[in-house]
Amino acid sequence: MIPLVYDQINHWGRDDEFFLALLKKLNVEFIADLGCGTGRWTTHLAENGYKITAIDPNEEAINVARSKGTPGNVKWMVGDSADLQSNTYDAVIMTANVAQVFLTDDSWKQTISDVFRSLKVGGHFIFDTRNPLAKVWKEWEMDKTPDLAKDRLSGDSLEIYTEYDGFEGDVYTFYEIVKHTKKDKILIREKMQLRFRNQEEFNASLKSTGFTQIETYGDWEFKQANSKNKSFIFHCVK
Ligand SMILES: C[S@@+](CC[C@H](N)C(=O)[O-])C[C@H]1O[C@@H](n2cnc3c(N)ncnc32)[C@H](O)[C@@H]1O
Repeated sequence: MIPLVYDQINHWGRDDEFFLALLKKLNVEFIADLGCGTGRWTTHLAENGYKITAIDPNEEAINVARSKGTPGNVKWMVGDSADLQSNTYDAVIMTANVAQVFLTDDSWKQTISDVFRSLKVGGHFIFDTRNPLAKVWKEWEMDKTPDLAKDRLSGDSLEIYTEYDGFEGDVYTFYEIVKHTKKDKILIREKMQLRFRNQEEFNASLKSTGFTQIETYGDWEFKQANSKNKSFIFHCVK
Protein backbone atom coordinates (compact mmCIF):
# COMPACT_ATOMS: atom_id res chain seq x y z
CA MET A 1 0.00 0.00 0.00
CA ILE A 2 1.53 3.29 -1.10
CA PRO A 3 -0.78 5.97 0.33
CA LEU A 4 0.68 8.66 -2.00
CA VAL A 5 -0.85 7.00 -5.07
CA TYR A 6 -3.22 4.30 -3.73
CA ASP A 7 -6.56 5.99 -4.53
CA GLN A 8 -5.38 7.00 -7.98
CA ILE A 9 -4.54 3.47 -9.09
CA ASN A 10 -7.29 1.55 -7.26
CA HIS A 11 -10.53 2.49 -8.91
CA TRP A 12 -14.10 1.99 -7.73
CA GLY A 13 -15.35 -1.42 -8.85
CA ARG A 14 -17.90 -4.23 -8.59
CA ASP A 15 -16.27 -5.38 -5.37
CA ASP A 16 -16.95 -2.02 -3.71
CA GLU A 17 -20.60 -2.05 -4.86
CA PHE A 18 -21.00 -5.64 -3.69
CA PHE A 19 -19.84 -4.87 -0.15
CA LEU A 20 -22.21 -1.90 0.12
CA ALA A 21 -25.11 -4.03 -1.20
CA LEU A 22 -24.35 -6.86 1.23
CA LEU A 23 -24.28 -4.49 4.22
CA LYS A 24 -27.56 -2.94 3.09
CA LYS A 25 -29.20 -6.40 3.17
CA LEU A 26 -27.99 -6.99 6.72
CA ASN A 27 -29.56 -4.00 8.40
CA VAL A 28 -26.45 -3.06 10.45
CA GLU A 29 -25.49 0.20 12.14
CA PHE A 30 -22.04 0.01 13.85
CA ILE A 31 -19.31 -1.13 11.47
CA ALA A 32 -15.57 -1.62 11.89
CA ASP A 33 -13.58 -1.29 8.66
CA LEU A 34 -10.38 -3.17 9.45
CA GLY A 35 -7.46 -2.39 7.13
CA CYS A 36 -9.26 0.71 5.83
CA GLY A 37 -6.08 2.12 4.24
CA THR A 38 -6.63 5.61 2.84
CA GLY A 39 -10.38 5.30 3.41
CA ARG A 40 -10.91 4.84 -0.34
CA TRP A 41 -13.97 2.65 0.34
CA THR A 42 -14.76 3.85 3.89
CA THR A 43 -15.77 7.31 2.68
CA HIS A 44 -18.54 5.75 0.55
CA LEU A 45 -19.64 3.70 3.53
CA ALA A 46 -19.81 6.88 5.60
CA GLU A 47 -22.04 8.52 2.97
CA ASN A 48 -24.54 5.73 3.64
CA GLY A 49 -25.00 6.85 7.23
CA TYR A 50 -23.29 4.04 9.16
CA LYS A 51 -21.36 4.60 12.39
CA ILE A 52 -17.84 3.53 11.51
CA THR A 53 -14.56 2.77 13.24
CA ALA A 54 -11.87 2.63 10.56
CA ILE A 55 -8.53 1.09 11.54
CA ASP A 56 -5.23 0.63 9.71
CA PRO A 57 -1.63 0.20 10.94
CA ASN A 58 -0.30 2.46 8.17
CA GLU A 59 -0.15 5.93 9.75
CA GLU A 60 0.44 7.70 6.45
CA ALA A 61 -2.69 6.03 5.02
CA ILE A 62 -4.77 7.13 8.01
CA ASN A 63 -3.44 10.68 7.59
CA VAL A 64 -4.57 10.64 3.94
CA ALA A 65 -7.98 9.33 5.08
CA ARG A 66 -8.31 12.05 7.73
CA SER A 67 -7.31 14.75 5.23
CA LYS A 68 -10.37 13.92 3.11
CA GLY A 69 -12.59 15.50 5.75
CA THR A 70 -15.19 12.80 5.22
CA PRO A 71 -18.64 13.90 6.35
CA GLY A 72 -20.54 11.37 8.46
CA ASN A 73 -19.66 9.36 11.52
CA VAL A 74 -16.13 7.92 11.11
CA LYS A 75 -13.52 7.42 13.79
CA TRP A 76 -10.10 6.90 12.14
CA MET A 77 -7.49 4.93 14.11
CA VAL A 78 -3.89 3.86 13.55
CA GLY A 79 -3.88 0.29 14.82
CA ASP A 80 -4.91 -3.28 14.10
CA SER A 81 -7.43 -5.88 15.21
CA ALA A 82 -6.22 -5.63 18.83
CA ASP A 83 -7.75 -2.12 18.86
CA LEU A 84 -11.26 -3.36 18.06
CA GLN A 85 -13.60 -2.85 21.01
CA SER A 86 -15.23 -5.92 22.53
CA ASN A 87 -18.90 -6.85 21.82
CA THR A 88 -19.41 -3.59 19.95
CA TYR A 89 -19.91 -3.90 16.19
CA ASP A 90 -22.80 -5.19 14.08
CA ALA A 91 -20.30 -5.93 11.30
CA VAL A 92 -16.54 -6.06 10.80
CA ILE A 93 -15.44 -5.79 7.19
CA MET A 94 -12.08 -6.09 5.42
CA THR A 95 -12.19 -4.94 1.78
CA ALA A 96 -9.71 -5.24 -1.11
CA ASN A 97 -8.03 -8.45 0.04
CA VAL A 98 -6.86 -7.30 3.46
CA ALA A 99 -7.19 -10.99 4.50
CA GLN A 100 -4.11 -11.74 2.39
CA VAL A 101 -1.75 -9.42 4.32
CA PHE A 102 -1.70 -11.85 7.26
CA LEU A 103 1.21 -14.01 6.21
CA THR A 104 1.38 -16.45 9.11
CA ASP A 105 -1.29 -18.77 10.52
CA ASP A 106 -0.82 -17.18 13.93
CA SER A 107 -1.39 -13.61 12.70
CA TRP A 108 -4.54 -14.68 10.80
CA LYS A 109 -5.91 -16.62 13.79
CA GLN A 110 -5.20 -13.71 16.14
CA THR A 111 -6.96 -11.29 13.78
CA ILE A 112 -10.11 -13.36 13.40
CA SER A 113 -10.34 -14.08 17.12
CA ASP A 114 -10.10 -10.31 17.75
CA VAL A 115 -12.85 -9.80 15.16
CA PHE A 116 -14.99 -12.46 16.89
CA ARG A 117 -14.43 -10.79 20.29
CA SER A 118 -15.37 -7.40 18.85
CA LEU A 119 -18.69 -8.40 17.29
CA LYS A 120 -22.03 -8.37 19.06
CA VAL A 121 -23.71 -11.78 19.14
CA GLY A 122 -25.31 -12.14 15.70
CA GLY A 123 -22.76 -9.71 14.20
CA HIS A 124 -21.31 -10.23 10.72
CA PHE A 125 -17.73 -10.72 9.52
CA ILE A 126 -17.21 -10.01 5.83
CA PHE A 127 -14.03 -10.09 3.72
CA ASP A 128 -12.71 -10.94 0.28
CA THR A 129 -9.65 -12.85 -0.84
CA ARG A 130 -8.23 -14.04 -4.14
CA ASN A 131 -8.72 -17.68 -5.12
CA PRO A 132 -5.26 -19.31 -5.51
CA LEU A 133 -6.70 -21.74 -8.10
CA ALA A 134 -7.39 -18.79 -10.46
CA LYS A 135 -3.65 -17.95 -10.51
CA VAL A 136 -4.24 -14.22 -10.98
CA TRP A 137 -0.51 -13.52 -10.60
CA LYS A 138 -0.01 -14.91 -14.13
CA GLU A 139 -2.06 -11.95 -15.48
CA TRP A 140 -0.19 -9.50 -13.24
CA GLU A 141 3.19 -10.70 -14.46
CA MET A 142 2.24 -10.24 -18.14
CA ASP A 143 1.11 -6.64 -17.68
CA LYS A 144 4.17 -4.43 -18.22
CA THR A 145 2.28 -1.12 -18.60
CA PRO A 146 2.93 1.28 -15.73
CA ASP A 147 0.04 2.93 -13.90
CA LEU A 148 0.02 6.71 -14.05
CA ALA A 149 -0.60 9.06 -11.14
CA LYS A 150 0.12 12.60 -9.95
CA ASP A 151 1.94 13.70 -6.82
CA ARG A 152 -0.84 14.92 -4.53
CA LEU A 153 1.06 18.04 -3.51
CA SER A 154 3.19 19.10 -6.49
CA GLY A 155 0.98 17.67 -9.25
CA ASP A 156 4.09 16.13 -10.90
CA SER A 157 3.56 13.03 -13.07
CA LEU A 158 4.42 9.67 -11.52
CA GLU A 159 4.68 6.16 -12.94
CA ILE A 160 4.01 3.06 -10.87
CA TYR A 161 5.70 -0.20 -11.82
CA THR A 162 5.57 -3.62 -10.24
CA GLU A 163 8.45 -6.11 -10.03
CA TYR A 164 7.39 -9.65 -9.29
CA ASP A 165 9.50 -11.93 -7.13
CA GLY A 166 7.15 -14.92 -7.01
CA PHE A 167 6.18 -17.53 -4.43
CA GLU A 168 7.83 -18.95 -1.39
CA GLY A 169 5.32 -21.47 -0.07
CA ASP A 170 1.91 -19.74 -0.24
CA VAL A 171 3.38 -16.24 0.07
CA TYR A 172 3.76 -14.14 -3.07
CA THR A 173 6.26 -11.27 -3.01
CA PHE A 174 6.40 -8.24 -5.28
CA TYR A 175 7.73 -4.69 -5.21
CA GLU A 176 5.82 -1.54 -6.07
CA ILE A 177 7.95 1.23 -7.49
CA VAL A 178 6.95 4.88 -7.83
CA LYS A 179 9.04 6.85 -10.32
CA HIS A 180 9.06 10.60 -10.94
CA THR A 181 8.48 10.67 -14.69
CA LYS A 182 10.33 13.87 -15.62
CA LYS A 183 13.31 13.40 -13.29
CA ASP A 184 13.43 9.65 -14.08
CA LYS A 185 14.01 9.12 -10.37
CA ILE A 186 12.69 6.30 -8.17
CA LEU A 187 10.88 7.85 -5.19
CA ILE A 188 9.52 4.73 -3.49
CA ARG A 189 10.27 1.01 -3.72
CA GLU A 190 8.01 -0.95 -1.41
CA LYS A 191 8.03 -4.68 -0.71
CA MET A 192 4.57 -6.25 -0.64
CA GLN A 193 3.64 -9.79 0.34
CA LEU A 194 0.36 -11.65 0.03
CA ARG A 195 -0.62 -15.05 1.38
CA PHE A 196 -2.86 -17.15 -0.85
CA ARG A 197 -5.08 -19.42 1.28
CA ASN A 198 -7.67 -21.73 -0.25
CA GLN A 199 -11.37 -21.83 0.52
CA GLU A 200 -11.02 -24.83 2.85
CA GLU A 201 -8.33 -23.13 4.95
CA PHE A 202 -10.55 -20.06 5.42
CA ASN A 203 -13.57 -22.21 6.27
CA ALA A 204 -11.66 -24.25 8.84
CA SER A 205 -10.15 -21.19 10.55
CA LEU A 206 -13.52 -19.39 10.73
CA LYS A 207 -15.26 -22.49 12.12
CA SER A 208 -12.59 -23.13 14.75
CA THR A 209 -12.87 -19.50 15.92
CA GLY A 210 -16.59 -19.98 16.50
CA PHE A 211 -18.13 -18.33 13.43
CA THR A 212 -21.28 -19.92 12.03
CA GLN A 213 -23.45 -19.60 8.88
CA ILE A 214 -20.35 -19.36 6.70
CA GLU A 215 -21.33 -18.27 3.17
CA THR A 216 -18.82 -17.98 0.35
CA TYR A 217 -19.82 -15.94 -2.68
CA GLY A 218 -17.79 -15.84 -5.90
CA ASP A 219 -16.80 -12.88 -8.06
CA TRP A 220 -19.18 -10.22 -6.76
CA GLU A 221 -22.47 -11.99 -7.32
CA PHE A 222 -24.77 -13.34 -4.66
CA LYS A 223 -24.10 -16.89 -5.83
CA GLN A 224 -22.17 -19.72 -4.20
CA ALA A 225 -18.46 -19.61 -4.98
CA ASN A 226 -16.89 -22.20 -7.26
CA SER A 227 -13.27 -23.20 -7.87
CA LYS A 228 -13.05 -21.04 -11.04
CA ASN A 229 -13.90 -17.75 -9.32
CA LYS A 230 -11.10 -15.18 -9.13
CA SER A 231 -12.32 -13.89 -5.77
CA PHE A 232 -14.12 -15.33 -2.80
CA ILE A 233 -16.23 -13.24 -0.48
CA PHE A 234 -16.70 -14.75 2.97
CA HIS A 235 -19.64 -13.81 5.13
CA CYS A 236 -20.13 -15.42 8.52
CA VAL A 237 -21.87 -14.72 11.80
CA LYS A 238 -20.89 -14.67 15.50
C1 LIG B 1 -5.02 -3.48 -0.28
S1 LIG B 1 -5.13 -2.40 1.09
C2 LIG B 1 -6.88 -2.30 1.30
C3 LIG B 1 -7.32 -0.94 1.81
C4 LIG B 1 -8.83 -0.71 1.91
N1 LIG B 1 -9.51 -1.75 2.65
C5 LIG B 1 -9.48 -0.54 0.55
O1 LIG B 1 -10.54 -1.14 0.31
O2 LIG B 1 -9.00 0.26 -0.25
C6 LIG B 1 -4.62 -3.45 2.43
C7 LIG B 1 -4.54 -2.73 3.75
O3 LIG B 1 -4.27 -3.67 4.80
C8 LIG B 1 -3.55 -2.95 5.77
N2 LIG B 1 -2.91 -3.83 6.75
C9 LIG B 1 -1.64 -4.32 6.76
N3 LIG B 1 -1.42 -5.03 7.87
C10 LIG B 1 -2.57 -5.00 8.60
C11 LIG B 1 -2.97 -5.52 9.86
N4 LIG B 1 -2.14 -6.25 10.61
N5 LIG B 1 -4.20 -5.26 10.31
C12 LIG B 1 -5.07 -4.53 9.57
N6 LIG B 1 -4.76 -4.01 8.34
C13 LIG B 1 -3.52 -4.24 7.88
C14 LIG B 1 -2.56 -2.14 4.95
O4 LIG B 1 -1.96 -1.09 5.69
C15 LIG B 1 -3.44 -1.67 3.82
O5 LIG B 1 -4.01 -0.42 4.08
